Amino acid sequence: MKVLAIYHNNKVMKKYILLTLLFSAVLVSSLNAQQVTDISVLANKPVCDIQATMWGVFFEDINFAADGGIYAELIKNRSFEFTLPLMGWDDVSQNGSGRLLPTFYSPGDDLNPHYLTVAVDAPNGAFGLVNEGFRGIGVRSGNSYNFSVNARISESSKIKMKVDLIDPRGEVIGSTEIPGLNTKWSKFQSLIIASRTEPEARLRILFSGEGSVDLDMVSLFPADTWKNRPGGLRKDIMEKIADLKPGFVRFPGGCIVEGRNLTNRYQWKTTVGPVEERKLIINRWNMEMQNHQAPDYFQSFGMGFFEYFQLAEDIGAEPLPIINCGMSCQFNAGEVVPMTEIDQYIQDALDLIEFANGPVTSTWGKVRVNMGHPAPFNLKFIGVGNEQWDEQYIERYREFEKVLHQKHPEIKIVSGAGPSPNGKLFDYAWSELKKLSPALIDEHYYMSPDWFMKNSTRYDNYDRNGIKVFAGEYAAHSREAAAPESRNSWLSALAEAAFMTGLDRNAAVVNMASYAPLLAHVGAWQWRPDLIWFDNLNCIGTPNYYVQKIFSTHKGTKEIPVLNAGKPLTGTDSLYASASSDGSTGELYIKLVNNSKSAKPIRIAPEGYSFRKAGVIETLKSAGLYDYNSIEKPELIYPAEKQISMDGKKLTVNLDPWSVNVIVLKYKK
Ligand code: AHR
Repeated sequence: MKVLAIYHNNKVMKKYILLTLLFSAVLVSSLNAQQVTDISVLANKPVCDIQATMWGVFFEDINFAADGGIYAELIKNRSFEFTLPLMGWDDVSQNGSGRLLPTFYSPGDDLNPHYLTVAVDAPNGAFGLVNEGFRGIGVRSGNSYNFSVNARISESSKIKMKVDLIDPRGEVIGSTEIPGLNTKWSKFQSLIIASRTEPEARLRILFSGEGSVDLDMVSLFPADTWKNRPGGLRKDIMEKIADLKPGFVRFPGGCIVEGRNLTNRYQWKTTVGPVEERKLIINRWNMEMQNHQAPDYFQSFGMGFFEYFQLAEDIGAEPLPIINCGMSCQFNAGEVVPMTEIDQYIQDALDLIEFANGPVTSTWGKVRVNMGHPAPFNLKFIGVGNEQWDEQYIERYREFEKVLHQKHPEIKIVSGAGPSPNGKLFDYAWSELKKLSPALIDEHYYMSPDWFMKNSTRYDNYDRNGIKVFAGEYAAHSREAAAPESRNSWLSALAEAAFMTGLDRNAAVVNMASYAPLLAHVGAWQWRPDLIWFDNLNCIGTPNYYVQKIFSTHKGTKEIPVLNAGKPLTGTDSLYASASSDGSTGELYIKLVNNSKSAKPIRIAPEGYSFRKAGVIETLKSAGLYDYNSIEKPELIYPAEKQISMDGKKLTVNLDPWSVNVIVLKYKK
């Protein structure tokens, strides 16, 4: 029996060995068939410095990015200044009656001219008002919310005030009482704790008694804001932005700088100082997009220029304000200020520099100091005009440049090349701007994924000694299934990554780059795709966000050549590559994009230095090109890290299909 068993086992063993040999042969021949791409990384031959500003963010108040978004105020139309003063508000009665009467302070007070008078007739019940928030009010169980209101009652009124958070069925999920109403305007504050998480809560203010009460600046903020600043910014969104470690923050846009007409343009001076004195205006995006109109979209400027500067400072980014150059949006009214009146626009730019950098003894420096920032913001850049074009722009830009260079030679000026990445207007802008001396020219491209894949060589032939490029607005629009608006699909992110290796490889030309737009509310957007999406409680990164993060957190300080057969990898065999080294971390970063459905074996030879054996590869990928992250599946496409190890002086990695990768190697000391 035993002999038989050994004989049988031997037979099984032989069969197993044979099969293994056969399988290995097939594997080897298939690997041989799959060509290995050899790349050399010339770590000892850096091309140029990479600017600390290289990867930044573009902030514009579009898609409810500021009010209803990063600005954590939860009450819409808090000061009754919307065109319809009761928009966002509704009356409510509980066995009582009354009226809501929008009222003027006095003619001539044009900053915050309205308040609300509530006539109350509720001796045995209550009458009041409810605010719907920005598509609801998001509250979390156990969290505290700071309620405040400016109020007064009329002589002989006997009125009590109660404030509730209610859910959509009217059930109370948090409450407070405001005692001590009197006949003088006073600010009342109280804390409400939410007993339940609710994405679409409302704020209800109930009055009992008889008489009338005046209200203004009705406000509700989460106590837990970014850096715990009262009346501050939404923490989860700020954390997502900070995680990008952006080199700069461009603000406040975008077309919002221009306005639909000049009256509607962004005027920074009306956005600083006490919040109740910032003049609210219509947001130019409110009725712009036919399928995504938002008549309730206004700019309260609670997030104004001081807050933008502070945001940039908080995250260690250079502030890059863009200033109106005397032109409104050329896609809309195209209003242009006559050259005889351009001085006031130029003065706005000069005053802005004073606001940011001036001493307390200067008019605008004092405004900054009074707002709680004695130190200068150390402004180094200013953008003149957003996406303007043609002679009208050049004529105006020239005047700005003349004065700014004369009065502030230390400030670098960013000019613009218009809305398209090429064509007559683009060429005209470049040829005229070359005769002037902006530090950077802002180029915009909202193009197809195919365009992005094909344009990774865009900057290879730009003049190394010429004006630098600011890739100030870009995003791949994939229009999947011929949809009018694109999603943040994996295809779009992959295409941007391929293109971004081209920005990375041309650090001598491209000094700044930012994806656009940055933020969008899932229930209130106008423009898609966008980098970060949020609802009233959550905030998610798109695949495009993670691509940006891979590049910005592996920026490096020197550009390093990556060559395949002596040439950069710019789409050969669907591969794209760039590299950089970082003097402070002692690391080498190799970015590799595989834009094909097959895995790609790559043999990398980093030259000139020795590297530690152990390294890391971070990969972002998805099998579905039209996959995207959502509030429900926020990490469907999410970077994963794997350990890798050098084999002598080489490193072999197998790039996953449709993947964006960064390899991190440590220099040996
Ligand atoms: O990013 C959205 C818009 O696109 C910007 O406001 C404008 O500059 C561009 O046309």
